[in-house]
Amino acid sequence: MSGLRLGFVGTGTIASAVVRGLARDGHRITVSERSARHSAALAAEIPDLVVADNQGVVDASDVVFLGLLPDAAPEILSALRFRAGQRVISFMAGVDLAEVAALCAPAGASALMLPFPGIAQGGSPVLAMGDTDLVARIFGGANTIFTVPDAAQMQTYLSAQAVLSPAVAMVGNAAEWMAGRGVDPEMGEAFLRLLVGSSLQTSGCAPLLEALNTPGGFNQRLRVHMEEAGTPETLKAGLDRLAKG
Ligand SMILES: NC(=O)c1ccc[n+]([C@@H]2O[C@H](COP(=O)([O-])OP(=O)(O)OC[C@H]3O[C@@H](n4cnc5c(N)ncnc54)[C@H](OP(=O)(O)O)[C@@H]3O)[C@@H](O)[C@H]2O)c1
Repeated sequence: MSGLRLGFVGTGTIASAVVRGLARDGHRITVSERSARHSAALAAEIPDLVVADNQGVVDASDVVFLGLLPDAAPEILSALRFRAGQRVISFMAGVDLAEVAALCAPAGASALMLPFPGIAQGGSPVLAMGDTDLVARIFGGANTIFTVPDAAQMQTYLSAQAVLSPAVAMVGNAAEWMAGRGVDPEMGEAFLRLLVGSSLQTSGCAPLLEALNTPGGFNQRLRVHMEEAGTPETLKAGLDRLAKG
């Protein structure tokens, strides 16, 4: 969709990725000057993007995104004047909608949204809670929105998404192992990334595991080896720990 006035208070890593993903959608985008490194890079890349102080962002926007760290947000937001009718979408993990509403009144705290860095290119999952229609209108064309019903489930999703890092590390470790045996490091890693990425994108886990379950095959033998080493239990214990906060 096009034509919205979108503002970002807190132009850090994730806000920058979100802005890059929106750059060609025809919105009027205003970002906070901080971080100067990020806002300057965005201004250099995106024609018509405006950099302003925090109040300037709020004043210029119909939808305000919060890309602040949770600990810093109360002091920063309480110094700003929001207006009724404005919509606020928070990226802040672990800060619930009621807290956002209190910090941004009289604006409406519309949604919590957890984007991932891949949103810069599109094709990324986006977790959303609250007015997910608004999130879908802005981001749904290029990404897939996963609507989460409540804060407890959001915490579960937030914990489980951390599987990405060990999964990536596992692929990286296998690529390193290949390089140690004389394989070109870039080609080995590219092969594994395409293999794992494309396989997961086109199949659910259960049918994929079934297809990879040839008795005595390489995939089955490595999976059983990892299971015997306690990898599934270790993963679930780590997720339990994350979910406890
Ligand atoms: N990174 C992710 O993948 C991800 C994904 C989903 C949600 N989130 C959530 O998004 C939020 C931001 O995470 P992040 O990784 O993007 O962190 P980050 O890069 O540290 O971004 C926080 C930004 O807030 C800025 N800031 C600090 N004080 C400010 C002020 N007074 N006015 C305006 N901006 C100010 C910081 O600028 P300075 O550098 O100048 O201090 C920094 O650019 C967090 O709440 C996190 O839970 C992150």
